[in-house]
Amino acid sequence: MRYGYFDDENREYVVTRPDTPLPWINYLGMEDYFGLISNTAGGYSFYQDARLRRLTRYRYNNVPLDMGGRYIYLRDDRQGEFWSPTWMPTRHELEDYACRHGMGYTRIGSTYNEIRADMRYFVPPGETLEIWDLTLENRSNEERVLSVFSSVEFCLWEAHDDATNFQRNLNIGEIEVADSVIYHKTEYRERRNHFAYFACSEPLVGYETQREAFLGPYRGWEAPQAVQSGKTSQSLRVGWSPVGVHHIRISLKPGEQRQVIFLLGYHENPEAEKFSPRGTQTINKRTVAPLIEKYLQPEVVETAFTSLQETWEQLLDIFQVRTPDEHVDRMVNIWNAYQCMVTFNLSRSASYFESGIGRGMGFRDSNQDLLGFVQMVPDRARQRILDLAATQLETGGAYHQYQPLTKHGNDAVGGDFNDDPAWLVLAVAAYLKETADWGILDEQVPYDNKPGTETSLLEHLDRCIQYTLDNIGPHGLPLIGRADWNDCLNLNTFSSKPGESFQTSSTQDGKVAESVVIAALFTMAAEELSQITKHLGLADESDRLKGLADGMAATTRRYGWDGAWFLRAYDHFGKEVGSKSCAEGKIFVEPQGLCTMAGIGLGEGLAETAMLAVERHLATEHGVLLLQPAYSEYYLHLGEISSYPPGNKENASVFCHTNPWIMISEAILGHGDRALDYYLRINPSKREVISDLHRSEPYCYAQTIAGRDTDHFGEAKNSWLTGTAAWNYVAIMQWILGIRPDYDGLRVEPVLPDSWQGFSATRKFRGVIYDIEVVRQGPGNAMMLEVEGEPIEGTLIPSINQEHVAVKVTLGKG
Ligand code: BGC
Ligand code: NOJ
Repeated sequence: MRYGYFDDENREYVVTRPDTPLPWINYLGMEDYFGLISNTAGGYSFYQDARLRRLTRYRYNNVPLDMGGRYIYLRDDRQGEFWSPTWMPTRHELEDYACRHGMGYTRIGSTYNEIRADMRYFVPPGETLEIWDLTLENRSNEERVLSVFSSVEFCLWEAHDDATNFQRNLNIGEIEVADSVIYHKTEYRERRNHFAYFACSEPLVGYETQREAFLGPYRGWEAPQAVQSGKTSQSLRVGWSPVGVHHIRISLKPGEQRQVIFLLGYHENPEAEKFSPRGTQTINKRTVAPLIEKYLQPEVVETAFTSLQETWEQLLDIFQVRTPDEHVDRMVNIWNAYQCMVTFNLSRSASYFESGIGRGMGFRDSNQDLLGFVQMVPDRARQRILDLAATQLETGGAYHQYQPLTKHGNDAVGGDFNDDPAWLVLAVAAYLKETADWGILDEQVPYDNKPGTETSLLEHLDRCIQYTLDNIGPHGLPLIGRADWNDCLNLNTFSSKPGESFQTSSTQDGKVAESVVIAALFTMAAEELSQITKHLGLADESDRLKGLADGMAATTRRYGWDGAWFLRAYDHFGKEVGSKSCAEGKIFVEPQGLCTMAGIGLGEGLAETAMLAVERHLATEHGVLLLQPAYSEYYLHLGEISSYPPGNKENASVFCHTNPWIMISEAILGHGDRALDYYLRINPSKREVISDLHRSEPYCYAQTIAGRDTDHFGEAKNSWLTGTAAWNYVAIMQWILGIRPDYDGLRVEPVLPDSWQGFSATRKFRGVIYDIEVVRQGPGNAMMLEVEGEPIEGTLIPSINQEHVAVKVTLGKG
């Protein structure tokens, strides 16, 4: 069953009923100001850091779900009836409700009692404010008098403190109101020079700035007292819970329309000019006033919206395809690219499953996310790489996380996730392949952000490799440390105390447990760095690295192969994990994919065998499971993975992040049918028809799909902020469609299902637009490449100095 439909032309998903199985959300903002917004206008906003600069409050795990957001109430002042045009929070039945989630904006509209209301929410490019653009229309035959109430609940900036430290916080809330603008200025008197503002284009009948005054005692957002009575009290009390509520009154003749603009923004004043007049505690409005005035003008709002659309148009234009499958087209051309940008912006900080107060930016996560967005924002990818490298430790290891506002490593979590360094190499490799900006390798970057420790980025990469070499276990495989890609495989923790972190409370010295996953990642990283150094003319270094890659591959073939698939690890006692000899957790997906991608055992047929094992033991109609059989009990020596009930999360769900590794592996083996089949099993658009089972948004990937050991097999959870976005994009774009940047140029090497007659694509790459046409002439993926009509040997497009280059691939020849 569906809850809406895709409007591909407008790059929107249209939700046609408000009661989706879960809140289906979208993101506003691209640079410094961000918002989360659900299909019923729930959500919140923040500046840069969802924890440290939270503008509006949001109660996670609330009842009812998703209460609190950017709400508007309309009240018919003659009848006294009121409702919310976004359905929440009043939940009145609406006619023609539709929420259109688009690229960086959300529009929600509905009709009630012959009043049409359309709201458009977005953040203008380059600004630290959001616009709520409301249009009301009287579709009845009589004049109507409406009260409009806007509402936000302010957060006292630090979201965690805001939700816990009431003895202080209920005493510090401060608000100022001037000229229809409500300013939230808690702590502005002391150590903050920033404030939030909530402005309205209409003159006010009244306002509220105290939550209880607005809602009334013991009442909730579904029926605020002020809305019910149609009267506000102009509350301005210090302390308690500051809100922003504008009350305006509008009369509309039959057929008349009216636009009302609200702005919610974040603003900083220079330290010395915080107050005006001097000597008072009044906010100096000198710099903010012109901004507010500007964006309250309808033409400016329209121009800003057009510019937002153009921004997205440009980003998405970098890669566009037309294939025989609408689910491929839709995800590649619109939604998967969009989700990659969202993960770039937010890493794992703020979604409806990440509270914005937990994790900072993950080192591993951000490096992987880069694989998905590097072609869209190469300059920002460059900066991201340098930021990440600056949190690296002198040992070559890395802080597992860093805070976006300070860009410093997070001490509480620390390092020793032994896969982390390899991801930096892979990210830089992807960046170089996309941009050929070899100069980045000369950038001087500190370690642990300490001035005076700077070395070249190249040296950082070398230390990434060295880190693994310095942490090798008894079989010659890399030691796992606290965890590898799988944060929940904690072989050194042995945690028995409730509440203890599985990741950071290691009790063992970690000198035994080894990871086949890190072996594969190391092989890939050393291979890439070998190619990079070769490019730089460092032949000896390149040979050394190649030797290291080959050596690790050989060790993995010897000690990492279990007979029919790759092993997962050796535990603290030196016993196999992910082996036929195990009672549970006999086979894991990660090493099958990553070892194949690293080329380990390709020649020996191991990869073919491993893929058959994946198909036999792990593949389901809802995607490829992370492991089988699921762990049925908690194993002290395995850690968090076995803490999850069977079929959930890392314990044998379809952990979607890993599935593209299998798609890529199948493509490497030339199995186009299987690669695309796996791709489509977890493709959100393809799963739209089972939205009542899938439950999460049909336009973005979720981290997990419940495994077959659960009673809700097929239910997706933890949508949006997941490495799944980047990896699926890479799998379809670079390996199945086969359009793949390489150090020396763009490669085209599609591995398609036999049923596909071809596809066409445009790819902007290093300043050139490649118009690519793939045509099937027979079965199989043997190919012939023609560039500008000339046949070319191999799969690499030679660089031609012109704006458009025509590329033709004929498949199934020879
Ligand atoms: C989650 C993992 C996640 C990790 C991050 C764990 O509790 O289950 O999925 O990677 O935390 O630190
Ligand atoms: C989510 C984390 O963000 C990611 O880094 C990790 O690889 C997966 N969970 C698997 O545990």
